[in-house]
Amino acid sequence: MTPTVERMDEQARAILRQNDRGGYTIPTAGLYPYQWNWDSVFVALGFMEFDEPRAWAELETLFDAQWPNGMVPHIVFRHDDPDYFPGPSVWGTDGLDLPMPTSGISQPPVAATAIHWMVDAARDKQAALSKARALLPKLNAWHQWWVDARDPDGLGVVAMSHPWESGRDNLPDWDAPGDAIDVRAIGDYTRRDTSHIDTAMRPKKKDYDRYLALVQFGKSKNWDPAAIAADSPFWVADVGVSAILLRADRDLLALAERLIPGDTMISQARARIARLEAGFDRLWDSRQGAFCNKDLRTGAFAPAATAATLLCFYAGVGTPVQRTRVIEMATGWAEKVRYMCPSFDPTSGLFDPLRYWRGPTWAIFNFMIGVGLWEAGETGLADRVKRDTKALMEANGFAEYYSAVDGTSAGGDAFSWTAAVWLSWISPSLKEHKKTG
Ligand code: GLC
Repeated sequence: MTPTVERMDEQARAILRQNDRGGYTIPTAGLYPYQWNWDSVFVALGFMEFDEPRAWAELETLFDAQWPNGMVPHIVFRHDDPDYFPGPSVWGTDGLDLPMPTSGISQPPVAATAIHWMVDAARDKQAALSKARALLPKLNAWHQWWVDARDPDGLGVVAMSHPWESGRDNLPDWDAPGDAIDVRAIGDYTRRDTSHIDTAMRPKKKDYDRYLALVQFGKSKNWDPAAIAADSPFWVADVGVSAILLRADRDLLALAERLIPGDTMISQARARIARLEAGFDRLWDSRQGAFCNKDLRTGAFAPAATAATLLCFYAGVGTPVQRTRVIEMATGWAEKVRYMCPSFDPTSGLFDPLRYWRGPTWAIFNFMIGVGLWEAGETGLADRVKRDTKALMEANGFAEYYSAVDGTSAGGDAFSWTAAVWLSWISPSLKEHKKTG
């Protein structure tokens, strides 16, 4: 029997409360025991529905860990937990004069977009406006870091220096570029993730060797962005982060124009937007008819499209012809799988229904895709994406992710960002003015 809306709301709120570690929220107990960057941002949207001060606190604690150079790290280590690998000592950021121990890379910059929504939906407008005003310079410094550190040549697309930076750890897209990573010196290590979760659902050992080698590489360069851009064996432009950053810059600009008119960050945001808009077309692979990730060292495109291809609507980019091709592609996918939107092309031989980012459906991606499609007037597909997300959660609870083929719940359970997506996007109890697609 389908659970009632009240029951779903209640369970979702309980998950956020139970994963709350006091001002910040862990993604799920055991597997991910620290604060993760974009998880926290979606969590803030979830808290916004029942505890606005707590929602703002989630973002403030994340930005407390911002680096002096503007980067907002992908993991914030407030303590050392032996249950997670690689922990703070492996990242070795302790000599960098940081506010607290963190990883050395970033994650998709969804925060400005979330803050824009939070300001619009807030019951306590006064508080929301002052919180957003205080966060704006930090957001701006972070966005500037993205273009300076990860696009030093001004291509208008941002490069990933590590698969984890994309938030989509083991996409098939990283396989070929990863061949350039030398793993011979990594030494012995013990993974912790596979003691929590079935190995068939997790990245393979070969992937982990590469993740670790890249951490050791970054550490050897003292996490200096210029040295990483110059020498990283892994340097791949990501459609997902490029689209998310472009959207986030539009939201930052809208907020800055409203809250601090005349500030220099307005012209900086405009310049970044122009550059990213111009650059996005570099990721159009005309042979595949899709926006695809691109290895910037070799110029090779990834083997197939991913769910991020559909973020062109969220980012407001693509010519009418490109957008039509993307809709055709997505319509084909929708016929092929039961639950939109698979993270990787389900018609490709590399599609894997349960292995993390190589096929499964993720609620947070559906949220961004659904909002973008809805804004672009593609309401048929937008409704399908939202309906499928709802059905997955009602049938299988708030899992880390789900099989796009049969809805099997996978990865960790009682997962914060999935619960948050229910509260902020799916729940039928959401007020009309809060509906974003
Ligand atoms: C995995 C995901 C990443 C997420 C993290 C915590 O590494 O790939 O996107 O932020 O887990 O949930």
